[in-house]
Amino acid sequence: MLADDLVIENFVPCDFHLLDQALSWIEQNHLLTGVRFCELGSGFGVAAMLAALRGMESVGIEIESTLVDQANRLSAELDLSAQFYCGSFVPHDVSEIVEISRDVEHVDTSESEVYQEIGLDLDDFDLFFAFPWPGEEHFFESVFTAGAAVNSLLLTYRGRNGMHLLRKT
Ligand SMILES: C[S@@+](CC[C@H](N)C(=O)[O-])C[C@H]1O[C@@H](n2cnc3c(N)ncnc32)[C@H](O)[C@@H]1O
Repeated sequence: MLADDLVIENFVPCDFHLLDQALSWIEQNHLLTGVRFCELGSGFGVAAMLAALRGMESVGIEIESTLVDQANRLSAELDLSAQFYCGSFVPHDVSEIVEISRDVEHVDTSESEVYQEIGLDLDDFDLFFAFPWPGEEHFFESVFTAGAAVNSLLLTYRGRNGMHLLRKT
């Protein structure tokens, strides 16, 4: 970030140490229903890479191509299997998207979704991670509730309030 003059306003990294602890806790408590991990709005892709280090099949979806390139480069350098895709994590078939995105300023809801390129749909993943802007958590939960598989998990980083884990029932 410091090496580049370009400022990507929606990109703020989360607490990666806490995230790593949360991933350990999820693993130790056997909460996962499978091994597919998806980081929604992946930035530099650290969450997806931490999941890949744990043996998960891991992808990140990010709208900013610079960040996607950096994440793919770092993943390759570290010899990790995590793959990063440029596009939107917001599926086009969420019918109430206009309603749920009304107050959402930090998620791009206009770009095309990227699931076809990945070859997986939202309901193929077992664990999602996102760092929503404060007050925009409901948007990620709505997308998750609308499209994810029953029993899959959504982990979100909530700044001072730490990590939040939700299972779709
Ligand atoms: C707060 S940052 C979090 C980055 C990373 N997950 C982390 O925890 O360090 C949110 C990221 O979501 C990206 N973003 C915003 N709308 C998006 C969309 N519709 N699809 C994919 N990425 C999006 C932004 O460019 C930004 O990099």
